[in-house]
Amino acid sequence: MVIARVGVVGLGTMGSGIAEVLARCGLHVVGVEIDRNGMARGRRHIERSSERAVAGGKLASTDRAALLERISYTTALTDLADVDFVIEAVPESLDRKAEVFAQLDKIVGPEVVLASNTSSLSVTEIGVHTSRPGKVVGMHFFNPAPVLKLVEIVRTVVTEPDVTAQVVAFAERLGKTAVVIGDRAGFIANALLFGYLNHAVRMLEQHYATREDLDAAMRLGCGYPMGPLALLDLIGLDTAYEILDSMYHQSRDRLHAPTPLLKQMITAGLLGRKSGRGFYTYD
Ligand code: CAA
Repeated sequence: MVIARVGVVGLGTMGSGIAEVLARCGLHVVGVEIDRNGMARGRRHIERSSERAVAGGKLASTDRAALLERISYTTALTDLADVDFVIEAVPESLDRKAEVFAQLDKIVGPEVVLASNTSSLSVTEIGVHTSRPGKVVGMHFFNPAPVLKLVEIVRTVVTEPDVTAQVVAFAERLGKTAVVIGDRAGFIANALLFGYLNHAVRMLEQHYATREDLDAAMRLGCGYPMGPLALLDLIGLDTAYEILDSMYHQSRDRLHAPTPLLKQMITAGLLGRKSGRGFYTYD
């Protein structure tokens, strides 16, 4: 499998981070969004993030310019006809992902692997909407994708073993560490992380401690890079809710039953960093 040109479907927080990672490694990226606003938002996200990489001494400014040039933007899925690999990163809705995969299946070549960045949905259920479920995998990146080193590779019962091996090699080519897991809710990291995040929201809801003290406890007492509420703001409260809800419906484990405060904040438009306000307020 020679990969030089990659399609990324959905340029939200994760998709744009993934596009940046790919372009940084010399790959040509075709980013697909549903409208011009989505395209502009994705481009802005990549410009800002790569600017931070330059400011932090992680990237030369000439390399940043080359990286940005390797990414093209479109609203037409059909522009992916000649890509060698696709990573889908649209919002966490099985219907939306199934629709994207069914369309991609008709557009890209028969040997092309289709990867989903889903964080909690069943990759098996997504793959059955194509004629190639053996070439469908999960490729789950972590936010911020350009900084965090892990990629979870999710193989279903029908994923071809050499496809899994190729995708692991591809993740390593991107400078990531790959872990391989079967298709279970939350995979490894989210299965462990989201019960903790949900618990922190419940503690805040019950006035157990202030947001600052909850976050300080985990940062300073456990050495976590951010506290749980600041992390939820980074992930996006809507995304976190979708992940919890999906895990809860698959496992029925009360640990993952979304805390009501999360839903109330989402309804009020407090989505975290992306909307300027969540548990904290951002410029
Ligand atoms: N490319 C490469 N490097 C970059 C970069 C980019 N685009 N942007 C920033 N960096 C580098 C910076 O230079 C800096 O490097 P040093 O530490 O060597 O100085 C480092 O990344 C951190 O960047 P910042 O200084 O800008 O930010 P920070 O120090 O405040 O750290 C953070 C921010 C990386 C988010 C850190 O707090 C962290 O790791 N938090 C935890 C995040 C986490 O747990 N994410 C997982 C969420 S769950 C998930 O994603 C799964 C899901 O399905 C939703």
